Order: sequence, then C-alpha cells, then structure tokens
Amino acid sequence: EGSIDLAVIGGDGIGPEVTAQALAVLQAALAAEGEAEATVTEYPLGADHWKATGEALNAETLDALRRHDAILFGAVGVAPGDTEVPSGLLERQVLLKLRFELDHAVNLRPTTLYPGAVSPLSAPGEVDFTVVREGTEGPYAGNGGQLRGGTEQQIATEVSVNTAYGVERVVRYAFARAQASDRKKLTFVHKHNVLVHAGHLWKRVVEQVAADFPEVTHDYLHVDAATILMVTDPARFDVIVTDNLFGDILTDLAAAIGGGIGLAASGNINVSGTAPSMFEPVHGSAPDIAGQGIADPTAAVLSAAMALEHLGRGAAAERVHRAVWAHLAERTAGEKVSTEAVGRDIAARL
Ligand code: NAD
Ligand code: IPM
Ligand code: MN
Repeated sequence: EGSIDLAVIGGDGIGPEVTAQALAVLQAALAAEGEAEATVTEYPLGADHWKATGEALNAETLDALRRHDAILFGAVGVAPGDTEVPSGLLERQVLLKLRFELDHAVNLRPTTLYPGAVSPLSAPGEVDFTVVREGTEGPYAGNGGQLRGGTEQQIATEVSVNTAYGVERVVRYAFARAQASDRKKLTFVHKHNVLVHAGHLWKRVVEQVAADFPEVTHDYLHVDAATILMVTDPARFDVIVTDNLFGDILTDLAAAIGGGIGLAASGNINVSGTAPSMFEPVHGSAPDIAGQGIADPTAAVLSAAMALEHLGRGAAAERVHRAVWAHLAERTAGEKVSTEAVGRDIAARL
C-alpha cells in the first residue's frame, strides 16, 4: 500500500475551519501508525469560487476529483438570507453533484453517544445506531418543475425517483451492516401509508433482501413514529435504512440525540468501487458561527476516521476514535469550544 491520495474540499463557512483540523488529525493518526503521510490536493470550491468564476464545479475539476482515493468534504452553502448566491445553488451544483456523479449510493451516518458526550435526553440508554440513508435518488434526483411561476396559479412539483436498482443496493448494504453488528437488527423507515408507490417498492425490496439475511431481524416504522422512538427509546435502534429525504431529517435529529451536531460524522459511499467515496460532517457551513473559530471540528475528525476505515487503515481509524473518546470524556458539558484547541487536543491524544 502506498500513501493515500486525498482530495480536500473545505467549502464555505465553518467547512474549511473544521476540515483543517480533521486533516491534521488524519495525518497524525497515520504517522502514529508508522504509515506514510497522505498526499493532499485542495480544491477551493464554494461561494467565493462561484462568485469569481461563475462556475460551481466544472467538468475538469470533477474529473480530477474522480482520480483520488477519497474526498474529505467540509460544507457548502450560504446563510439563508444571503442574496448574492441563490439558495440551493451550491448545495445542488457542488455537493449533490458530487454525490450523484460519484455514485454515492449509501450515505452512512452513525450515531454513538460517546462517553463524555452529553445527550439532551435524560436517560437515553446505550445510543449506538447507524442511519443508512439512500444517497442518489428520492426527491433529491431533481425531477419536478413548475407551471405559471410567480403567479397566483403557480403549481410546483418535486418528484421522488425510486429505482429497484438504487433501492436494492442501499437496502443490501444496510442488511450486510446489520449482519455484521452484535444486535443484527434492521429498521426500515418510510411512509408507505401515504407514499404508496415508492413505499411499496421499498417494502418489496426490503422483504426480498431480508430473505438473504436470515440472522437479521427487521421491523418497520412510519417516519413520523420513528421520530418519537428516536427520542423516547433511541437504544432500540441498530441499523436504520431509509430514503434520501427521510434520512436527511432523521440524521439531524440523530445528531442532536447523540450529543450534538458538532459530533455527527458521515460517509458517502460508492458501493461499486467506480469512484472515490466522500466523507463529511453531517452539519452545514453554519454561517451564524463562521469565522469565529468556535465550530466543533469533532464531526469532521470522525468523518476523517470513517475515511481511514474505508481506505483499509482500520488501526489509524481506531486510534482516532480512542483519541476522540478521551477528548470528550474531559470536555465540560455545554462549554464553548475552540476549533483549533479541540483539533490540537485530539491530535495530542493519538
Ligand atoms: P448547519 O448545520 O450549518 O447549522 C445548524 C446549526 O448547527 C447552527 O446553529 C450552527 O451554528 C450549528 N452548528 C453546525 N455545525 C456546527 C459545529 N461544527 N459546531 C457547532 N455548532 C454547529 O445548517 P443550516 O443553518 O441549516 O445551513 C447553513 C448552510 O449550510 C446552508 O447554506 C445549507 O444549505 C448548508 N448545508 C450544507 C451542508 C453540506 O455541505 N454538507 C449540510 C447542511 C447544510
Ligand atoms: C446534508 C445536507 C444536504 C442534504 C444539503 C446541503 C444538500 O443537509 O448533508 O445532510 O440534504 O443532503
Ligand atoms: Mn442535512
């Protein structure tokens, strides 16, 4: 194995701030394992790049990104009130474009209540579950449109695209993950009482794939009920599989339950090996706290650990996890953090 060839996209707001710490921890973890330092290529994408060039992510850059082993991503997007960049432009033309073009079928989002991290739930029990969110379909496919825009008769549609192929591969990934876990339990979350077309496709695929995993027990929850149980009994969950939009919403809730959005990591996994996977915190660019040096980089650091694990550097990944546990155990609940100090403290514990 040679050195890891990483692409880094810091992006907007706190994205570059937290990604810098994640990268420093990743390099230190590799060094601690006696492994070669990763080679790093930074891609300055985001609002400034768009303003300067009129391009969000062009074909050449996308091509260059394809050739890396993995991508560390911070966040893109501007504050909701920003008038210089249209809302959703960077999200769709950078982040979602990468997820779709690099075929990130699985959006893997684990929630573990680390020792020392503080959940807002008074007695949450043992919180350790993973949301396997479908990554390239659903309402995110961008189908839809509008008639009579801007008039009193305006009609807008957003169409959810669900293919048997796309659903099967994420469901299979989720079952395999449940199979590999101690509890071997999978919860399928949808809303097939209302979204009958997509819901029934998902349901059929879940039943079909379940037959290949006899050791895994599985149950079903409508998404609204799932939010209740995630708050009242989060310990009941092991692996959750769900569609792209439900997965987006459930994983911000999961982040809150698991001690805060500043701790929630994710991986966009290309399951066929045709393009690099991409690792990013669940949170966004947090314009409200950008530039102040107070964003928690732990989610970005844990995302880098997921990258290491994915790239076969399990020992380095485990080392990062242990360092994060030790760091969180000594953090005072609710205290304000310094981005740089957290990164430095975690790196020092490697
Ligand atoms: P957000 O996740 O950026 O922020 C939500 C809240 O969480 C804010 O109060 C913020 O201060 C806080 N927060 C987020 N990350 C934190 C951290 N590391 N440490 C401490 N506090 C943190 O979500 P939003 O406000 O809805 O979106 C802001 C922008 O980010 C929008 O343009 C949105 O589209 C974009 N966004 C991008 C991504 C991404 O690129 N992956 C993800 C989500 C949102
Ligand atoms: C996330 C974000 C993105 C999503 C947005 C910014 C497109 O909220 O990664 O959770 O909805 O997937
Ligand atoms: Mn989200």
